[in-house]
Amino acid sequence: MSSWSAKNPYMSKVTECYVLNGEGSRKETRHIVFDLGDSGLDYKVGDALGVLAENPQNTVDLLIETAGWDADHLVTTHNGERTLSEALKKDFEIHRVNKKFVNSLTNKVTSTGMRITVKLIERYRESVAGQGSGWMSSDSSLGDEILPSIPGDDPVGRVEHLTTDADAMEDYIWSRDYIDVMNDFDVSYTPEEFLELADKLKPRLYSIASSHDVHPGFVELTVGIVRYSHHGRDRGGLCTVYMADEVEINKTDVGVFMSPTKSFVLPEDKETDIIMVGPGTGIAPFRAFMEQRVHDGGTGKNWLFFGDQSEKTEYYYKESIEDWLDEGHLYRFTTAWSRDQEEKIYVQHRLKEHGAEVWEWFERGAYFYICGDKQYMAKDVHRALIEIAMEHGGMSEDDATHFIEKTMMREEKRYLRDVY
Ligand SMILES: Cc1cc2nc3c(=O)[nH]c(=O)nc-3n(C[C@H](O)[C@H](O)[C@H](O)COP(=O)(O)OP(=O)(O)OC[C@H]3O[C@@H](n4cnc5c(N)ncnc54)[C@H](O)[C@@H]3O)c2cc1C
Ligand SMILES: NC(=O)c1ccc[n+]([C@@H]2O[C@H](COP(=O)([O-])OP(=O)(O)OC[C@H]3O[C@@H](n4cnc5c(N)ncnc54)[C@H](OP(=O)(O)O)[C@@H]3O)[C@@H](O)[C@H]2O)c1
Repeated sequence: MSSWSAKNPYMSKVTECYVLNGEGSRKETRHIVFDLGDSGLDYKVGDALGVLAENPQNTVDLLIETAGWDADHLVTTHNGERTLSEALKKDFEIHRVNKKFVNSLTNKVTSTGMRITVKLIERYRESVAGQGSGWMSSDSSLGDEILPSIPGDDPVGRVEHLTTDADAMEDYIWSRDYIDVMNDFDVSYTPEEFLELADKLKPRLYSIASSHDVHPGFVELTVGIVRYSHHGRDRGGLCTVYMADEVEINKTDVGVFMSPTKSFVLPEDKETDIIMVGPGTGIAPFRAFMEQRVHDGGTGKNWLFFGDQSEKTEYYYKESIEDWLDEGHLYRFTTAWSRDQEEKIYVQHRLKEHGAEVWEWFERGAYFYICGDKQYMAKDVHRALIEIAMEHGGMSEDDATHFIEKTMMREEKRYLRDVY
């Protein structure tokens, strides 16, 4: 057993990181391979990999510049003494402002009356010159003295609004980082004050997309890269952008650790049939399951439901899937391409279309697995299962719910979820 953990990660190298989407796709989903080297790390299918990211150096530098700090200033963090630059890169989440920091503005924006900052005046002039939205007047000859009468320009009032209206707070922090806030409000924080408020950098988990028996010494992931642009700067998810843009192949040391699962496991009996539902990046553990089931042999049938926006651009792992189908390892492959026609087709629609057969599989003891989006997809699939039990099992809604949620999920532990 290796002792690598979130606090003591193994420093791995990425050996491959390529985009799975076809040309013209709206998405960026990558296949990312980590070398486990001499770590002694092992994993089973169903486990997740923890990845520790770092903030991009340009964001660190811009934050230091905006705040007027010294990059070499020594600070003590939960990881020990280090330069401010290193602490901001490795120890804290600086890519999205948190509520604690916005709340702290109450004690920083202390001016009595209307304190219009130089930056706000500059923004006002720019927007007036460009007929920008959200400002009241287009008369560029107006002097600074009238600025206080423009709603929302009073920093004290703005902070009060943000800290007392939960929706305004959510809306404000959604698109901003600390640099934006320091540009919005002319405030000054010492590095120590800032680090006290910022969140510690947390590892991200990724469902493992490979079988260790098939890829000894490596662990593979299917990662949806989070990118967006706000307030004139491109930005995105901390860990996904780190893996896609910052990590150099076979060069950068990336901290990883295993996060084993006790529940999201293959049936012990290799004769047991399984249904896997994994749209989008939800396919990750099912690539691993298929590799393992092929490696292990056995007569259990495998039925995979997969979907994403378009067959042309999102048919991830097409070659492997076609091989499994050709060789009879994948008994059935059912797709839901949501944007290849007028109306949305999702995996739960396909499940219901095949409801009679799904029910037969359930009656024969099949395991049901789901992976991917927790907020919408998993809930809709759950509902579809209850409807299948009603329609094809002849159950009342209460009995169907009991069967899916109590019998299959809790008692028999054959409805298993890896949703996020
Ligand atoms: C058990 C488990 C398994 C997982 N497996 C996988 C997997 O196999 N593949 C995978 O890709 N992910 C997986 N995830 C999700 C993964 O852990 C990360 O949450 C995901 O990659 C985003 O991390 P990030 O650091 O890039 O983004 P973060 O920095 O954490 O930012 C993500 C946040 O950005 C915000 N955001 C998104 N779009 C916008 C926008 N336009 N404007 C402003 N804010 C926005 C959202 O609030 C979102 O929550 C899994 C999660 C868990 C818990
Ligand atoms: N924290 C993050 O920032 C982050 C990063 C990566 C993934 N995730 C999570 O993981 C999920 C997976 O992301 P992904 O890019 O792999 O795939 P996804 O966005 O979930 O999309 C996969 C497929 O699911 C469809 N879909 C949308 N709503 C659905 C619903 N209610 N029921 C069933 N299917 C539905 C999509 O269709 P349409 O798009 O055409 O509607 C698409 O065809 C995300 O939705 C998100 O919750 C989060």
